[in-house]
Amino acid sequence: MLLRLDKYLADMSIGTRTEVKALIKQGRISVDGVCERKPERKVDTQLHQVALDGKPVGYARYEYWMLNKPAGAISATTDSSQATVLDLLPQAQRKDLFPVGRLDKDTTGLLIITNDGQLAHRLLAPNKHVDKIYLATLRDPLGPQDAQAFAEGLDIGDDAPTLPALLEQPDPANPRLAQVTLHEGRYHQVKRMFEAVGNKVVHLQRIHMGPISLDPSLQEGQSRPLSDEEVRMLQAFKPCG
Ligand code: URA
Repeated sequence: MLLRLDKYLADMSIGTRTEVKALIKQGRISVDGVCERKPERKVDTQLHQVALDGKPVGYARYEYWMLNKPAGAISATTDSSQATVLDLLPQAQRKDLFPVGRLDKDTTGLLIITNDGQLAHRLLAPNKHVDKIYLATLRDPLGPQDAQAFAEGLDIGDDAPTLPALLEQPDPANPRLAQVTLHEGRYHQVKRMFEAVGNKVVHLQRIHMGPISLDPSLQEGQSRPLSDEEVRMLQAFKPCG
């Protein structure tokens, strides 16, 4: 891809367009080892080696991150007063990243963050939502009818009942722990489904999204780039519906 040098540097979060123009004028940027003082110079992202003060600045068209979201971070790109999930990606280069879907402020677990709009659109397209799996810690033990009620669809106060969802008890010794598989994504959906059966979610964690599983080695608040294999799985993924 051919890009102006100042755009290349700004895309990689070296600074704002004005700041990177200043760096270029100061002679701190080189292309293939030669000082370049023209912000409008076209560079080929595949061919040219751009460097700042001699340190290479590689170009990433797309970035794909897995975050183990901690409670308290909001699933937004900017907020005037609260920490967003993007504040938790100090290694990210691109400034146009956004979370693929939302988790409530108090929900923890798997969040995919990218700047690949097409991929996000495919994963979130209405009626084609990828499966998402949550672990919910509940106030009261699961009831004997709950799995059936989730499977039949619940009235949670929206225009239509929820789509059938799978409710399982992953730990026979802990009846307050539930695993829920959703095929859609409505606002506060898991919490509202448990409210509809007279229970309450006290903690919620997402552990899977489509073909991607939360990496158990990531502590809450930690992130890592998706592996090439994970990106391939996401790109090859065809949601049903
Ligand atoms: N359902 C909820 O209630 N909250 C979330 O964050 C995700 C699913």
